[in-house]
Amino acid sequence: MSENNNIIKLENITKTYVMGENKLDALKGISYTIKRGAMIAIMGPSGSGKSTLMNVIGCLDKPTSGTYYLENELVSKLDKNRLAGIRNKRIGFVFQNFNLLARTSALENVELPLVYSNVSAKETRERAQKALQQVGLKGREDHKTNQLSGGEKQRVAIARALVNHPSLILADEPTGNLDTKTGIDIMEVFKSLHEKSGITVVLVTHDPEVTVYAEKVIHLRDGLIENEKRRET
Ligand SMILES: Nc1ncnc2c1ncn2[C@@H]1O[C@H](COP(=O)(O)OP(=O)(O)OP(=O)(O)O)[C@@H](O)[C@H]1O
Ligand SMILES: [Mg+2]
Repeated sequence: MSENNNIIKLENITKTYVMGENKLDALKGISYTIKRGAMIAIMGPSGSGKSTLMNVIGCLDKPTSGTYYLENELVSKLDKNRLAGIRNKRIGFVFQNFNLLARTSALENVELPLVYSNVSAKETRERAQKALQQVGLKGREDHKTNQLSGGEKQRVAIARALVNHPSLILADEPTGNLDTKTGIDIMEVFKSLHEKSGITVVLVTHDPEVTVYAEKVIHLRDGLIENEKRRET
């Protein structure tokens, strides 16, 4: 297999959920390639398959059919353990609801993904401190997460996503629980990570203001890519 610049290559990906007698085709044949270092937004109505697609890309779920190459490795056929390994090493996740441990310091939250890894306690601390610095939270390390504003919480979540040095960050509605101004601040954080570290960012959003930050916007409808728009920058 020749090396190339694609971080994600999806070929005819389908996902069917089976619930008893009923089947629901959430993804109906998605083919799409994302270049390393890209910043991509996914939009589409509720139920169009955005989170399902993110779960496949994030190796949280397997497609029903189709092939998925992540960094030129065929991952669509891997078993759960191998998928978990890939996920932990290569992908950082950011969620709408932050998913932080309350009454736990920002620093400890960011250290968490490394606690069960081979990384030493000292390096874990250093990496977490650096990640918090990268998202503009230097000086907030010891704050408990329930003492932080929504925007600060999301910065902690982004730092936690970065601490494994992933090649890809996936964010499902990262600004969904934030006011417009704070949402824009968070997008500036993603933008600066993307520009300074060349990290690939794929995010789901309902908010047209958020898509301004993406190079390309994919519109999903009913489990299919309806169109792709390239933003002129
Ligand atoms: N675990 C599941 N089991 C069964 N059906 C599911 C499951 N997850 C999602 N679905 C269905 O698959 C379809 C796509 O869901 P998905 O969550 O991907 O939509 P979405 O575009 O993320 O929507 P939203 O904007 O509301 O988050 C929906 O019809 C949903 O009901
Ligand atoms: Mg969703």
